[in-house]
Amino acid sequence: MEIFIRPAGPVDAEDIARVQRISWAATYARQLSPESLARVETAWDARHWRRSLERTDDRVISLVLEGADEGVVGFGVAGPRRGGRDPILRAYDGEIYLLYLLPTFQRRGHGVRLMAAMARVLRARSMESALVWALSSNRSAVGFYQHLSGSILMQVRKPFFGESVNEIALGWRDLRILASMTPTVRE
Ligand SMILES: CC(C)(COP(=O)(O)OP(=O)(O)OC[C@H]1O[C@@H](n2cnc3c(N)ncnc32)[C@H](O)[C@@H]1OP(=O)(O)O)[C@@H](O)C(=O)NCCC(=O)NCCS
Repeated sequence: MEIFIRPAGPVDAEDIARVQRISWAATYARQLSPESLARVETAWDARHWRRSLERTDDRVISLVLEGADEGVVGFGVAGPRRGGRDPILRAYDGEIYLLYLLPTFQRRGHGVRLMAAMARVLRARSMESALVWALSSNRSAVGFYQHLSGSILMQVRKPFFGESVNEIALGWRDLRILASMTPTVRE
């Protein structure tokens, strides 16, 4: 079974929305209210993704993880860091915006592959550092980023689809190590 990473385009909108919906439900069912999950689903539907993937911003990159038989099983989106005032965050050029895999493709090495691919693309666009935001309650994602040597930068309370949630920022000051990771993929 071979799973490839490639740049995403508008044609992938339906698949990305599907992967996000399934992965969100599995990840956040116990962390967010059903109302918030429903609001997220509506906001990030295929139409949203089509519009977003049609936008031509050379610094934002969307990648999909795809198998010939499996179709799209994961995706990641990265680009310039959003939000500019905090002095700690300002030390980081780039940001991993989203990273979601279908549950059956998690813990097999694909998350690292996508992180490494995004780090390479960010570097190719002159961003040498990056951060990521995760819900504090998403211990698995925070554990994953720490396993990849991400440092915890701060925790803040933020509004999120009608709820107030704690989010943690983790950062990599030098993306070279992340960019050079080549994990062994487990079948
Ligand atoms: C978080 C996510 C992207 C990680 O990807 P993944 O494919 O499951 O992780 P990998 O198999 O690539 O893991 C790579 C390494 O990190 C480690 N790791 C993974 N999850 C971990 C955790 N919770 N705690 C500690 N280490 C972890 C693995 O053990 C592995 O190390 P190894 O190769 O030395 O065994 C994926 O699980 C996912 O899509 N989760 C649901 C959605 C989500 O939470 N996204 C992030 C939102 S901010």
